[in-house]
Amino acid sequence: MLKKEGKKIGFAPTMGALHEGHVSLIRQSRRENDVTVCSIFVNPTQFNDPKDFEKYPITLESDMQKLIAAKCDILFLPAVAEMYPKGYKNPKALDFGFLAETLEGEWRPGHFAGMAQIVEKLLRAVTPDRLYMGQKDYQQAMICSDMIRQLRLKTRLVLCPIKREKDGLAMSSRNVRLDKKSRAKAVEISKLLRSIKASIRRRATGDGRRIADIEHRAIDRLTALPEFKVEYVAIRNARTLKPVKTMSDRTPLVALVAAWIGGVRLIDNMLL
Ligand code: PAF
Repeated sequence: MLKKEGKKIGFAPTMGALHEGHVSLIRQSRRENDVTVCSIFVNPTQFNDPKDFEKYPITLESDMQKLIAAKCDILFLPAVAEMYPKGYKNPKALDFGFLAETLEGEWRPGHFAGMAQIVEKLLRAVTPDRLYMGQKDYQQAMICSDMIRQLRLKTRLVLCPIKREKDGLAMSSRNVRLDKKSRAKAVEISKLLRSIKASIRRRATGDGRRIADIEHRAIDRLTALPEFKVEYVAIRNARTLKPVKTMSDRTPLVALVAAWIGGVRLIDNMLL
C-alpha cells in the first residue's frame, strides 16, 4: 500500500534492548525515507550459544518508548511462530563463502546462517528501499550486503557509524550484563582499536612496520590483560575481510576485535 503510493521505506531490524545506536538508525532512516519501520525479534536461530539466548535482555516497554520518542512509524513485532511456522522448511541457504567463515563465522558457528535466514525473511516482509544496519556488526552488514546482491533485492544497505559511550565503549545491548569492574575495563577494546589506527597511520607515513607486526602486538596487548579472554584481534581488507600483508593506499582496512570479559562477549571494530 505505502509502496503503491510511491513512499520510500527505511527499515532497521533489531533484537530489541534498544540503545542510542539503534535510535541513530531510526533517526537516519527518518531523514532519508517517508516511512520508517523497525522490527524487534530475538531470533533464536542465530544464537549459537543457548545461554546467550536465555540471557538476552528483553525490554519491550522501554523499547517502545524509545521508538515513539524517535518517531518511528511502524514497529514490526513478529512472534516466533510467525517467522518460523511449524513444519516450515528453510529454502536452500545462501553461500557467503569466506565472508561468513572467518572471524565471527569461526567463533560462532551457525550464527550467520541464522542471521541471514531471518534478515531475508524480514526483507521480504518489509520490502524496504533502504536497510539500516550498524557498523558495530561489520561482518553481519557485509553479509547482508552480499545477500541483497545475490537475491537481487531492490534494497540498498546503509551502514551507520558505531555509537560509543563517553569512554569509547561501543554501545551494545549486551553491555547491561557487564558488572561494574568489567564495564570499567571494557574500554580497553576501543582504546586498542584507536592505537591500531594510530600505528597504521604512522606506518602509512613511513615507520615501516608490517601489518602483521601491528596485529601481533595488538593481540599481545589485549591478551596480557587478565580480565579478557581474546577470541580475535585482526586487521583485514575492509571490503573482503581477507588478511592483508602489505599496505597500499588503495586497500581500505578495518580492525576487528572479539573478546570476553566478565562472562560477556564483546565485539568492536574500526575503519583504519
Ligand atoms: O544485529 C542484530 O540485531 C540482528 O543480528 C538482526 C540483524 C536484527 C537479525 O536478527
